[in-house]
Amino acid sequence: MPYVHSAPGSSLVLGLETSCDETAAAVVERTASGAGRILANVVLSQFDKHAIYGGVVPEIAARAHTDSLDQLIRLALDEAKVRLDDLSGIAAAAGPGLVGGLIVGATTGKALALATGKPFVAVNHLEAHALTVGLTDGIRPPYLMLLVSGGHTQLLLVEDVGQYRRLATTIDDALGEAYDKTAKLLGLPMPGGPAVEKAALDGNPARFDLPRPMLGREDPHFSFAGLKTAVRHAAVRSAPLSPSDVADLCAGFQAAVCASVSDRVRRAMTTVLPVLPENDHKPFVVAGGVAANRVLRAALVNVAEDFGFVFHAPPLDLCTDNGAMIAWAGAERLARGLVDDLDAPVRPRWPLDPNAAKAAGAGVKA
Ligand code: KG4
Ligand code: ZN
Repeated sequence: MPYVHSAPGSSLVLGLETSCDETAAAVVERTASGAGRILANVVLSQFDKHAIYGGVVPEIAARAHTDSLDQLIRLALDEAKVRLDDLSGIAAAAGPGLVGGLIVGATTGKALALATGKPFVAVNHLEAHALTVGLTDGIRPPYLMLLVSGGHTQLLLVEDVGQYRRLATTIDDALGEAYDKTAKLLGLPMPGGPAVEKAALDGNPARFDLPRPMLGREDPHFSFAGLKTAVRHAAVRSAPLSPSDVADLCAGFQAAVCASVSDRVRRAMTTVLPVLPENDHKPFVVAGGVAANRVLRAALVNVAEDFGFVFHAPPLDLCTDNGAMIAWAGAERLARGLVDDLDAPVRPRWPLDPNAAKAAGAGVKA
């Protein structure tokens, strides 16, 4: 079998993702000019293992990663036609996330690095989401970014690789969490986001009068707990729910989310416009699992246009967790000499902007 070798100045990086309920391995090439190419990207979802519990069970997740990660690495290397020896480095998500899964991925990555003598990169999962548009669209910092996932909802100024300024965060639930909880209370399957989006297709967004959280608020933050509770109250009032009730509640929830998030993004755009280089291409990047939502994407394309920003988001399958984003973040760091020792810790909490002020609120996610 002919093997792929990296050209001079380019790199081949293996990326491992095990921070939540997806086990993933990928091989990505980064050329000397900084362009990216995915050679293999295999993702094994654990949804069926957690479904009966109605949420991700950390111990089950960690065991499932242990069971399948080595086979996924083999698959990714074979598909990419790359041998371990051909790699320039090995990257693994080291946080934030569930500690058991992070230990599985990071320890596997370190073992491979030790055995092959290749450099190891401990990747921040949020940074991997943030940099994916470099791989898919060739977008380089600085840019404004909305990061929306199962655990985080933040507006960030991506100043450079490894350099982030957090402008806003959620003061309670993350947006993906709100989607997942809404799905659960309406009896929809996991993962909740795609299920709510699908059910909403047949719904009337105007039937239920749901709140638009934080609309017009001077502070830049997000909040979704009140909206989720309002959906619960509306669902209780309409019980037993018919499929069209569920569709209308999902459509109403999604319309409220779009209105609230658009308002927060408008506010952030007003704030960052003066600090971005003038007359420059001003990218607005949306990333993380919820960025796979077509309705939210369409709403944010309009907001970006209104403010002179250019909308970018990874293709749908690279919004949700995958190994290619970890490999790419690893390649970007490797290109800058940012490698880690084999005693690099896993970090269940790992904010992109360690200097961000704490937002006041109930269950604030850093
Ligand atoms: O980034 P991600 O795969 O994992 C984390 O880092 O958390 O994001 C997962 C989240 C889940 O809450 C899932 O329900 C949500 O992203 N999600 C969506 C969609 N696809 C995934 N939410 C809304 N619409 C979608 N199409
Ligand atoms: Zn993620």
